[in-house]
Amino acid sequence: MEYIGNVVQAALSRRGFLVLVGTGLSLPWTSAFSKSVNFTGIRPDTEDRLVVPPGFEHKVLIRWGDPLKNDKPLDWNRIYQNGPTQEDVEAQKHCFGYNCDYVGFLPLSKGGALLVVNHEYTNPELMFADFEPSDRRPTKEEALLMLEAHGISMVELSKHRGEWTYVKGSSYNRRITGSTPCQLSGPAKGHPLMRSSYDPKGEYVLGTLNNCSGGKTPWGTVLSCEENFHSYFWGDDRKVRHPQAGLIREINYRYGVPGDFARAYGFYRHKERFVVEKEPTESLRFGWVVEIDPYDPKRPPVKRTALGRFKHEAATCVVAPDRRVVVYMGDDERFEYVYKFITKGTYNPNNREANMELLDEGELYVARFDEDLTGRWILIARCEKSSGNDYRVIPNPDLPEPFKSDPVLCFINTRTAADILGGTKMDRPEDFEWNPVTKSLWLALTFNERRTRFQTDRANPRAFNSMGHVIEIVEEGQDPSAKSFRWHIPLLCGLPKAKNPAKQLLLYGKPVKGNTPPISAPDNLTFDRHGNVWIATDGNESTSRLGKKDGVYVLNPFTRELKMFLSGVPGCEICGPEFSEDWKTFFCAVQHPGEGGKGGSRTRWPYGDGCEVPRPSVVAVWRRDGRAI
Ligand code: FEO
Ligand code: CA
Ligand code: CA
Repeated sequence: MEYIGNVVQAALSRRGFLVLVGTGLSLPWTSAFSKSVNFTGIRPDTEDRLVVPPGFEHKVLIRWGDPLKNDKPLDWNRIYQNGPTQEDVEAQKHCFGYNCDYVGFLPLSKGGALLVVNHEYTNPELMFADFEPSDRRPTKEEALLMLEAHGISMVELSKHRGEWTYVKGSSYNRRITGSTPCQLSGPAKGHPLMRSSYDPKGEYVLGTLNNCSGGKTPWGTVLSCEENFHSYFWGDDRKVRHPQAGLIREINYRYGVPGDFARAYGFYRHKERFVVEKEPTESLRFGWVVEIDPYDPKRPPVKRTALGRFKHEAATCVVAPDRRVVVYMGDDERFEYVYKFITKGTYNPNNREANMELLDEGELYVARFDEDLTGRWILIARCEKSSGNDYRVIPNPDLPEPFKSDPVLCFINTRTAADILGGTKMDRPEDFEWNPVTKSLWLALTFNERRTRFQTDRANPRAFNSMGHVIEIVEEGQDPSAKSFRWHIPLLCGLPKAKNPAKQLLLYGKPVKGNTPPISAPDNLTFDRHGNVWIATDGNESTSRLGKKDGVYVLNPFTRELKMFLSGVPGCEICGPEFSEDWKTFFCAVQHPGEGGKGGSRTRWPYGDGCEVPRPSVVAVWRRDGRAI
């Protein structure tokens, strides 16, 4: 296997990992320089088609069921009509998974690239004709196929005549699924709550689940985030027999385990580890950030417990001026928090291996947003290796029992520690990303229609926030390792001409002019080389929002213009916005096309091959004239 090499290091560095910070820089929102977004904006629509601006082309790169090895694709029509067989379950282990979310582009020094894609969840009502949403009882083979359709795919890409295709049979191609062994690492490894009947030492877990968004590390690994893991565990919490049953129940309650959705996946009917009373600690072994090495197919996935346990949306790495690595993370549920982790060690750009355990030691913080547009990072706990495999964990001294006597709980029951320490409860924190041009953080808060008018604050200013908003955060001195920050709200989503002020689109606090498109439910974010903020949405279709399909929007933070770049297909959300290293190709994931219908009733996108059901797919978009986007 090829070593990552200097080419990759240079490419990754260029994307903003090496932050050379000066204190005399002007604030992002006072910067005058700008590059306008050079395309004709489109409008949200409702048709069964994917739309990109005039002068752009798009193609489907890889779809659910496409083979990663040199074998056949899944036989989706037969699977839909007759239900899957055990052979189909085996085949899914080597085919592209369902509901693609995060998309990471990692260049190869030999040319070409690797694409790392998360598979967040499955839609049995679209995959199997006999699945009744009201009954929610998938067959054994349906449940097991869905377990294998979760996780992560890594595929090699090559470029011919300006167009990317995936390389079938590449030795880099690899699936990690809901049953692939993953190592546990960091302070919670070996903790009594991390031990299970199949893993009495608390060292590994079968599978990773609900991999939502993610991020790349400066050393060329990928962080894949376990989000709604509660959706897979079912059973009777009251029947848990365990020396720490009371504590397990408390933690489960805070994280929503068991989760009602578990019945639609049905894993618990066929695998005892998903039954809470049979395997009481298994749910505690999900909800982590998983580090994977796409360049080395033999390296197992590692759950990095120092990054805390919650419903992780994404994880964005930035290198601080002193070369410590900072990881920004959101917990995507209503009234949850944003976090950051600062490594103890420093990034070594000259020795890749020396960085491989950087994420095991450091400090975990939760954010508090204050009414004066400043904010603080509140320490939850610090962890470091003491001797051998042992960790010393020093909790915030304000934390009571049981955190004082068992401080590893700061990492396992992170939400409760953050409650006690007074983090700010946000409107569903999705992506939390560092813009290398503005040197500020952009946080998407997708929506929270359950916030009452008694619960608003300046950072979450709307009661019944159905549209969502975006916050920009500037760390003190633009230093990611700072303990304080300033913030403001550049985007309150909504309709340009809404009569209800709670649904009105405001850019930088002002009503919009001209033909600015409506936008709602901001979710995943990325940035182009000019610092424009690319926003993918998840929820526009709801009648309480736009009643139009989800898409991709571009906000220019200098000219304060908003345009729409891409409109998806019925039922889908758009995820994983990402650029190729030459900025000529834009990638995104079209997740759950057809959701809200049954089988192909809403759409059969991306069509072709006589397929009767929609297939979640990754799309590439480029300029017809071949220039950078
Ligand atoms: Fe999986 Fe928060 O979106
Ligand atoms: Ca998301
Ligand atoms: Ca979402």
